[in-house]
Amino acid sequence: MHEELFPVKPEVAAAAHINAEKYQQLYAASVSDPDGFWATEAKRIAWIKPPTQILSGDFTGDVQVKWFEDGTLNASVSCLDRHLAERGDQVAIIWESDDPNVHEHVTYRDLHARVCRLANVLKSLGVQKGDRVCIYLPMVVEAAVSMLACARIGAIHTVVFGGFSPDSLAGRIQDAGCRVLITADEGRRGGRKVALKANADAALKQCPGVEHVLVASVTGGKVEMTAPRDKSYNELCAAASPECEPVEMAAEDPLFILYTSGSTGKPKGALHTTGGYMVWASFTHQYVFDYKPGEIYWCTADVGWVTGHTYIVYGPLANGATTLMFEGVPSYPDASRFWQVVDKHKVNIFYTAPTAIRSLMREGEAPVHSTSRASLRLLGSVGEPINPEAWLWYHRVVGDHRCPIVDTWWQTETGGILISPLPGATPLKPGSATLPLPGVQPVILDADGRELEGAAEGNLCLKRPWPGMMRTVFGDHPRFVQTYFSTFKGYYFTGDGARRDADGYYWITGRVDDVINVSGHRMGTAEVESALVAHPKVAEAAVVGFPHDIKGQGIYAYVTLTAGEEPSEELRKELVAWVRKEIGPIAAPDAIQWAPGLPKTRSGKIMRRILRKIAANETDGLGDTSTLADPGVVTELVENRVR
Ligand code: PRX
Repeated sequence: MHEELFPVKPEVAAAAHINAEKYQQLYAASVSDPDGFWATEAKRIAWIKPPTQILSGDFTGDVQVKWFEDGTLNASVSCLDRHLAERGDQVAIIWESDDPNVHEHVTYRDLHARVCRLANVLKSLGVQKGDRVCIYLPMVVEAAVSMLACARIGAIHTVVFGGFSPDSLAGRIQDAGCRVLITADEGRRGGRKVALKANADAALKQCPGVEHVLVASVTGGKVEMTAPRDKSYNELCAAASPECEPVEMAAEDPLFILYTSGSTGKPKGALHTTGGYMVWASFTHQYVFDYKPGEIYWCTADVGWVTGHTYIVYGPLANGATTLMFEGVPSYPDASRFWQVVDKHKVNIFYTAPTAIRSLMREGEAPVHSTSRASLRLLGSVGEPINPEAWLWYHRVVGDHRCPIVDTWWQTETGGILISPLPGATPLKPGSATLPLPGVQPVILDADGRELEGAAEGNLCLKRPWPGMMRTVFGDHPRFVQTYFSTFKGYYFTGDGARRDADGYYWITGRVDDVINVSGHRMGTAEVESALVAHPKVAEAAVVGFPHDIKGQGIYAYVTLTAGEEPSEELRKELVAWVRKEIGPIAAPDAIQWAPGLPKTRSGKIMRRILRKIAANETDGLGDTSTLADPGVVTELVENRVR
């Protein structure tokens, strides 16, 4: 714990949208008169029919939460059309290629035309309001264009991260019932090619519902095209009209589905709707990043994750910002790439993940010092707890002591940032996400669901709906209610643990459920386990997270082989490769321990608490093992722990 305080510099407070006093006022207003507060904030986006109703529903019963219900709008209009008169020629997207010699500027006018062309193509393929379209693209402008083109015609997009395997892609396409897939020939990352179309072809063998595949040309690599299903994105868009009337959507009509991992079962399709999400994206992007017109803003996430949705595409574009999209990786061609890009495009606001900071820290300060970074004004962090050591390095080395750091806590489910410093208002403590944004009412509950007051540690929950929250699990509302609202009645349970200190600051301690966070990517232990047991030589598997210097958490798998199979280094490699193939590289176990037996209670439940401790090498405090069916199993596992 690092309690050093970094006060807000007076010049930062003076220039900011929100200083400490204004934050107090806004927060108080959001609690005392939430409807009035959100009625005003709703005006920040473009409505066709402005809403008169604000919030209906709460966290009880069937959890039917609705915001701005009688309003109508089109999300793409807030992001594009309304900017054309004033800033049509301003750059909307700076695209920086994997190749450091290639970049592209896309103005708001260009982007509008590209979105309209694709929207017309989708319409010509018969895509209608409410249809689902899957987007499986690398970090290219077409990804943002595809999302906005869906929004324009009222289709619901579901973006699948380009690093997911064919099976993972197929599962999402099937669950969402997608009719169309937008993909690319190949992606590029760190000088290497990613075979997106080939993966898509493999996935589509299991997806007869997909009628059309649009293939964008990214590398120009040769790929198989299956007629009449597959079509050239580029050719169809070139022939389409650059004007397309936006479809009028109700505020609660779905905007997108994004799959995310939970403690149990298959990934869930978090469904976000239009009005509330757009208000939240714009509100949080403007205030947390203190965005001012003309600034260059860069979020390094991938559009396949929620951070890319809200803070590369919808939030910045709703606010008329210039948003940078980066195709590559932090280490290519070398470890100073991020800072070279900052200098090249004069980036003012930079938002990344702790895992990237930690991996760059390992390379030392020289790659950072070789660049100026003079344009930087604000730094951000997202995706996992940032350890104070990484925070201090980010602040001192990257930000030259000059730039505040916003440590933003949120989730796929929350749609946008909920707990974060505001740069002009909040004194910083390294490692703390600090205070809730206006409209956010976090509480800490004990195991019995009692609200704890003052300084306390426990389960992080939210007490009141906020506009950006997910509305349901696509196709499975009971699962939504069960997952988030059944543990603590009347509250949204985040799955995270948190400590609140005497100043009211929140310190997120990490997941308290069976979700692990590997390099800021969420992974359900159950998903990795089911991939492992699908291998013919595996009888049983238990997967836990363990502390990892760079990734935050690594994946530790205990594997029991089927009778007659012998452990070997070869088999270990085979299992790692198997999981990569089944789910994707991000799910590959860092350690596999051969486990002749797993610690189980007499009723057969695996005691993960013990497995977590062994993986973390905390074998002194294993706690009570007397309830185990066979306590001897534990001794064996401790002795053979993988180092
Ligand atoms: O455990 C928290 C962690 O990431 C989880 C949400 O993951 P995902 O839905 O993939 O969204 C990631 C991008 C918002 C949370 O339950 N998390 C996210 N941000 C932070 C964090 N943990 C600590 N500090 C953060 N700033």
